Amino acid sequence: MSDSNDDSGTTVRIQLHGLDAQTVAVAPGTTVQVSYVAGGKAALVTPDAPGPRPAPPPVRDGRRPAGPRPPGPTVGSPNIVSAPQQFNTHDLFVDLRPIVDQALFCKVEGMNFAGSVKLKAAAAMVEAAEIAGQLNPWSIIVESSSGNLGVALAMVSANRGYRFICVTDDRCNPQTRRLMETYGAEVHVISTPHPETGLLGARLEHLRELCDRNPDTVWLNQYENPANAGAHYATTAPAIARAFPALEVLFVGAGTTGTLMGNARWFKQYRPDVRVVAIDVEGSVSFGGPAAPRHIPGLGMGMTPPALDRSLVDDVVMVPETETLRMCQRLAMRGFLFGGSTGTVVAGAAGWLARHARPDTPAVTLAPDQGERYLDTVYAPAWREEHYGTAGHLSRPHRLPDAGAAVPPPPSEE
Ligand SMILES: Cc1ncc(COP(=O)(O)O)c(C=O)c1O
Repeated sequence: MSDSNDDSGTTVRIQLHGLDAQTVAVAPGTTVQVSYVAGGKAALVTPDAPGPRPAPPPVRDGRRPAGPRPPGPTVGSPNIVSAPQQFNTHDLFVDLRPIVDQALFCKVEGMNFAGSVKLKAAAAMVEAAEIAGQLNPWSIIVESSSGNLGVALAMVSANRGYRFICVTDDRCNPQTRRLMETYGAEVHVISTPHPETGLLGARLEHLRELCDRNPDTVWLNQYENPANAGAHYATTAPAIARAFPALEVLFVGAGTTGTLMGNARWFKQYRPDVRVVAIDVEGSVSFGGPAAPRHIPGLGMGMTPPALDRSLVDDVVMVPETETLRMCQRLAMRGFLFGGSTGTVVAGAAGWLARHARPDTPAVTLAPDQGERYLDTVYAPAWREEHYGTAGHLSRPHRLPDAGAAVPPPPSEE
């Protein structure tokens, strides 16, 4: 680090090993804080205001919140949209190092008007159908969804003027169902599994019946539609690579495998040095495991995903739903309320990194949605007890982590 004085004050030149140099102007007497972002292009440089040091945070219950105060929000140029699908967040990542003790960063995909990663697939599939001339003003879009794609398609259909019917099952959150209906969609809930193909098979059978009965229906078919993975190839993967040029491992949850395949294809083509690890939930048959009941929507399938190309995936991690619950709670105790599948991918990624990587191996995963839609399920003690028995007991009085402690102790004894 070097400094020089001119009329406007002091400039400080900072260069950390292997990173771009940065020059910042600071007022005399200012303290400059430099923090290295693993995998990032450069160090973060924050000139602190001169003057007396701020008072330490209040001690509550004999404990102090861990870590330094984060910087305040920045104000950028306005985003003005005329359709909800025009807005998405491409550059928001959560640093999970204080929570999992690994250099794991999580790309937040739930900060858009549909509230989930599925906005990308919904917008891309509707646009592709319009370009192909498959949709007209009296078309009825139909789709099978565990919830999030249904909400996104309900929103896009409302905006584009199409009727929409979503075929879901009783694992779909009640709030998600109401959201779709609020956008004017019709929701068909299947609760009797097909004897061989389970709930998904029963949903698809119902969908085919709808299509046979009404020639105006258009089934977008997220399981086979190339626009599903195409949306992630075009946007998600390049955004991750841009933000983390030193990335070594990418963890992607697998539902239809649209997110997984879009990212895997891009990284194999442009950054083949990055390992792509799929995260699935125990009980899903996507990667050949035995079928078992699952209660958290989003990840896992009751059939081999038609879009899956196993040759693009370097490894697979299977995560039990009880670990999902624990990780969701750990994240919530740090103020990050994510959906169930985020708990699954973070738990799976942290376990894989602990077994196969260094603590500073730069890794990224994706948080497909936010947690509010799961308040009556993943975050509800009664629901956890009903589905997981004593393994679902996680509640304990909310308490702050020890000062300086990286991770609150996992609630392992419950
Ligand atoms: C919450 C959640 N997580 C993960 C996924 C998986 O995404 P994909 O279908 O692209 O594999 C979905 C898909 O619906 C989801 O809703």
